Amino acid sequence: MAPSILVTRRLPARVESLLRDRYSATLRIDDEPLSSAELSRALGSHEIVLCTLGDRFTATMLGASGVRTRLLANFGVGVDHIDVGAAAQAGMAVTNTPGVLTEDTADLAMLLILASARRVGEGLSDLKAGTWYGWRPTYLLGTRVSGKSLGIVGFGRIGRALARRASAGFSMSVRYYSRSGASADVERETGAVRVSSLEELASEVDFLSLHCPATPATRHLIDDRILGLMKPDAFLINTARGDIVDENALIARLRNRSIAGAGLDVFEREPAVPGELLSLPNVVALPHIGSATIESRTAMGMKAVANIAAWIAGDPPPDLVVSPAGR
Ligand code: NAP
Ligand code: GLV
Repeated sequence: MAPSILVTRRLPARVESLLRDRYSATLRIDDEPLSSAELSRALGSHEIVLCTLGDRFTATMLGASGVRTRLLANFGVGVDHIDVGAAAQAGMAVTNTPGVLTEDTADLAMLLILASARRVGEGLSDLKAGTWYGWRPTYLLGTRVSGKSLGIVGFGRIGRALARRASAGFSMSVRYYSRSGASADVERETGAVRVSSLEELASEVDFLSLHCPATPATRHLIDDRILGLMKPDAFLINTARGDIVDENALIARLRNRSIAGAGLDVFEREPAVPGELLSLPNVVALPHIGSATIESRTAMGMKAVANIAAWIAGDPPPDLVVSPAGR
């Protein structure tokens, strides 16, 4: 008998059609996240759950009796909302959708660098409020981006894609901090140079951009101490995950202009975003849209389908994050 599949959110039309036609998957009409109780019920009633960000699967839920799910096919590259160790212990495989969203997410990081440096948020607010009264030589003076220095934290797919844009497109000098270094070829091709510590990177660059995953080791990696090392005219850019930054410390540093500004696509307690953060003029904030192009989201869906197809065929899914324990 074909395994039963639940898809927890709306997906691009081509992906939904494929899941409906090929697998008779259960597709939701609503797009709000399922509650914890509903997610637990899904684990008890479907062999495969195609889930996504915000679908929090805890060790308690995954280890409960009566769990039937054998594959959590995540739509998205980050899997920090799933306790993957507990999933493996519960006999599940977990897959994700890396690579196909890299270029669009790097574009958005570049957009936030430009938007925060050039005070795009303040300009839009003035226009919408009708308070702009014309061109003037000293209005909304921002910071030049071209030729400045960029520090990248986490030099994987997206970090490297941003480095390429910044060095080739904006003549920026790019440095990075990652636990393991890239090859000399990658450094040459991306124009990026490794530094030995996060402290060194934070204290030197004009823009510090985050591209590591959210893990216990990266929680509040950017804390008040690291923010305090940044130059007063530097900007923090975060398209990775909100809890990599101590959001309260960031708000305080932005409020007293200890750093110049921030460009944020992600927040510590999504979908909650502190009102004070949004009200600060030196913040450009977006609602987690790093990969939100029809091209990326369709390709992510197709990757999730390919992972499901491989799992059903008994083959290793191409984007395996964890296998069931003991296998
Ligand atoms: P990736 O290729 O796995 O790159 C992540 C990099 O982070 C790796 O090179 C890793 O290298 C480094 N890293 C891991 N732990 C670290 C630590 N403690 N300190 C410093 N560096 C560390 O992943 P990716 O595809 O580039 O995606 C990165 C993250 O972006 C995802 O996990 C996701 O959270 C986020 N994301 C957000 C959006 C959005 O919509 N805003 C879209 C896509 C992805 P080492 O292990 O060698 O340190
Ligand atoms: C988006 O944030 C992702 O992890 O894919």
